[in-house]
This record gives sequence, structure tokens and C-alpha cells, in this order.
Amino acid sequence: MILDGKGLADRRLELLKKEISERGVTPTLATVLVGDDPASAMYVRMKHRACDQVGIRSVNVELPEGATTSEVLDRLKMLNEDPEIDGILVQLPLPSQIDTPQVINAVYPEKDVDGYHPQNMGKLVGGLPGPRSCTPKGIMTILNEYGVQTSGAHAVVIGRSVDVGRPMALLLMLADATVTICHSKTRDLAAITRQADILVSAAGRPTMVTADMVKPGATVIDVGTNHVNGKLCGDVDFQAVSSVAGAITPVPGGVGPMTIVSLMENTLEAALSRCRPAQ
Ligand code: GUN
Repeated sequence: MILDGKGLADRRLELLKKEISERGVTPTLATVLVGDDPASAMYVRMKHRACDQVGIRSVNVELPEGATTSEVLDRLKMLNEDPEIDGILVQLPLPSQIDTPQVINAVYPEKDVDGYHPQNMGKLVGGLPGPRSCTPKGIMTILNEYGVQTSGAHAVVIGRSVDVGRPMALLLMLADATVTICHSKTRDLAAITRQADILVSAAGRPTMVTADMVKPGATVIDVGTNHVNGKLCGDVDFQAVSSVAGAITPVPGGVGPMTIVSLMENTLEAALSRCRPAQ
């Protein structure tokens, strides 16, 4: 079975549009794009397009490639204090001269629609309500919508990044899965991945997950967004793995569109919890 993230995302964006209109709110998302990485610029454009689609107002703050940490912090201060702004997303990665943790720390936790602020990460660890990182949240939505059982399942996550691997593992654990996190130093990766009922690959290495690494019938979630010869491809050798797996997300059209849905959901949540009346 193909887990059609794109189709699911389109349906959820429609529902979100209806909800936003019924609630009579106009949430506002500010994106901050630093530098001129074409992939980042494209992702930001896609986020703005989704905002337009669902009735979220969006503004884009652009800073040059050579911007300093304090310049970024200054802009964040303005956005933090602007009552018109409900959510702030700083597109990552930032240019290397910028202190990324300091920037993430500077976003007001109540406007942190990425769920990256340490306070929101702490809420995730504690199992408390709060904004969840968009990609792991989108993956949980896919699993729920397709009825993939997490309770008691062995979930293996490849990748320990702060934005995907770690929050993914925590969300799966909160959903009662038994979770193993693998990474670049893991010994005999295939022996572990073969035990997975749910295998999430967020390694960022094209065709790293091969058919022999997958248990027959497993659910395979491919978070990879690798650009190879101008083409977007995942971490999973889709052709071979799809004949072994029970269910699999394609790239493109799997996890990516659901990440954007999560961002829209987090932005609406941020707006609602700020109790801004309809205008
Ligand atoms: N870069 C790649 N994915 C993301 C994301 O979900 N949020 C942010 N802020 N940057 C990203």
C-alpha cells in the first residue's frame, strides 16, 4: 500500500480551511528566510502557498546570506512583540556564521510553530500539550489516518536530529511503540531495522534503506529529501523496498506535504491559544 501523503494533505488542508473560516480567525504566520539557498527558498514558497490555500495570512522576512546572529535576533524581537503575528518559522538550515541554537531559543515559545524551542521540546519529553515538530507530527497523522497500529509495535527511527529523529522517537513512544533510535554510529543497522514493524528513515542518504533491511509487511516512512541530479529522492530504495513493505510513503508526495499541513495546524493552534478575536 502506498501511503499517499499528498492526497491526505490536500484533504486536511480543505478541512483546515473550513475550520479557519468557521472560527472567524485569520492566523498570521511569519517566515524568516536567511540567505539564498534555493531549496530553502522553495520550501518557504510552498509554505506561503499552503497559507494562501487555507486562509492563513503570511509574511516573509528575508535577510541576506551574510546576516549576523544579532541581525536575525533583532528581526525576531520585532516579530515576537508584534501582536499581529501568531506564529514564527525560521527556515533551517541557517548560514554557518549564525548561531542556530541561539536563534531557536529567541522565538517566543507560544509563537514557535516548529516546536523547536527547548521549552516546547521539554513539553514533548514530558508528554505535555504543546506544538510538535512538523515532520514527526505529520508522520503521526499519516500513521493514524491509515490505521497503522503503533501500540506495542517496534518502531525503528534512523536519524537522531533535533528536528526529526528525536521528536519522532518521542512521539512514537508516547503512542505506545517500543522505539529504537539508530544513527551513523549504529553497528549492524540492518539487523535492527529488520526488527521494525514501523521503520522511519530520516538519515538524509539516498537509497540507504534497501530491501534486505526491511521486515516483510513493515510500514516504511521515508523522510529523506535528497537532491540527486536535480531530482528529489528519499532515503529508501522505493522500487525494491515497496515489494517487501506492507505500506510505504513515496518521495515526493509522502511525508513532505504532511509537514506543511502540520505547520498550518500549529499556526492555527498558536492563533487560537493567543485568543485573538476575529477582525
Ligand atoms: N528546514 C527543513 N524542514 C524544516 C522545518 O520543518 N522547519 C524549519 N524551520 N526549517 C526546515
